[in-house]
Amino acid sequence: MISQRINSISYAIREIAAIADKVAKSGKKIYHLNIGDPVIYDFNTPHYISQALADASFGGKNYYVNSLGAPELREELSRSINQRYNLKVSSSDILVTTGVTEAIFFLIAATIENKKELLIPGPSYPLYINYTKFFDGVPIEYELDENNNWEPNIDDLRKKITDKTKAILICSPNNPTGVMYSEKMIKNIIDIAGEYGLFILSDEIYDQIIFEKEFTCPATLSNDVPIIGLNGFSKTHLVTGWRLGYMYYHDPENKLNDLKEGIAKMARARLSASSIAQYAAIEILKNPGTHTQEMVAKLKERRDYSLNRLRKIEGITCVEANGAFYLFPKFDFAELKKWKNDKEFVIDFLKTTGVCTVYGSGFGEYGNNHVRFTFLPKVEILEIVYNLLEDFIK
Ligand SMILES: Cc1ncc(COP(=O)(O)O)c(C=O)c1O
Repeated sequence: MISQRINSISYAIREIAAIADKVAKSGKKIYHLNIGDPVIYDFNTPHYISQALADASFGGKNYYVNSLGAPELREELSRSINQRYNLKVSSSDILVTTGVTEAIFFLIAATIENKKELLIPGPSYPLYINYTKFFDGVPIEYELDENNNWEPNIDDLRKKITDKTKAILICSPNNPTGVMYSEKMIKNIIDIAGEYGLFILSDEIYDQIIFEKEFTCPATLSNDVPIIGLNGFSKTHLVTGWRLGYMYYHDPENKLNDLKEGIAKMARARLSASSIAQYAAIEILKNPGTHTQEMVAKLKERRDYSLNRLRKIEGITCVEANGAFYLFPKFDFAELKKWKNDKEFVIDFLKTTGVCTVYGSGFGEYGNNHVRFTFLPKVEILEIVYNLLEDFIK
């Protein structure tokens, strides 16, 4: 009854949530450390942001807006991107989408077919793997090297370029590792892309959720290699459910004009992204508030607490995250013995303790033997969770 291509979609983050629902029905309390949604924890959408959404609707903005995005929002985004990163992105270089999710869908739909390859970080946010397969392409993972602070392994990346490669994805800070690529590595990737005539996708959804280091925007390092930046309002502005994102083209030599026009066609076919969310977003950009900095300060404390607890457990090692809200510890199953792999561990841990995490293999083959923990919950909850983890492993 259904198409073969549907089988390419598997999304560990939601699949584990379905198991958690069953466990919850048996009466067990569930601790959700699986979903990267700050709004379901104690990070509330600021009042002025909710008000802006209501005002947009009461102000009559309830119609289909321009398919490429409300002109005022594209203007405001161009101003904000250029100011943040010192770029020269014009409003015509911006497309407003239904979350970064839709931008990923458009980009892969417009570039991948017939076993063409997308080079993605390993481990990687699962959607890149899913959509590449969905459009009959092949996701090729280049190694992020855990022993080198999850930095991209440039030799591995170079080795994996073929005549089928279409583009290279940079995701920094990365989901699931929580670690940013160094500026040097980003430069190396841009040079390699230039050498092979490839373009770069840069997923920047966590660009403002960073702790010690500065964010490096790949587009600022490229004079000629085309880079498409993906970003959105979900995480930074605590409106995950609004579904609002955007992509911007940094393409100094206009190499991507066909792609840009192709994607605009797709955007017109789906009419528009949410009008009221777009008009409210203009308000957010004009008055960015202090909620992001407040969230980052709280998250830093929660990261430190979680990292410290994880590192005390024998059989677990963990690289420090310097962005996003995930830790991606490695489990030594040879030492822990009781479980064969990360998936078996995560399901057993969930059923026994109610703590819901995500198995690392859901993020591609480099995720094997890892488990993703978000550190979004309050320290009081994290304390319960890590006590349960310690007892469970004993
Ligand atoms: C790396 C990455 N890209 C994109 C998304 C999707 O974001 P959006 O809510 O804008 O669709 C997520 C969500 O978790 C993510 O982690």
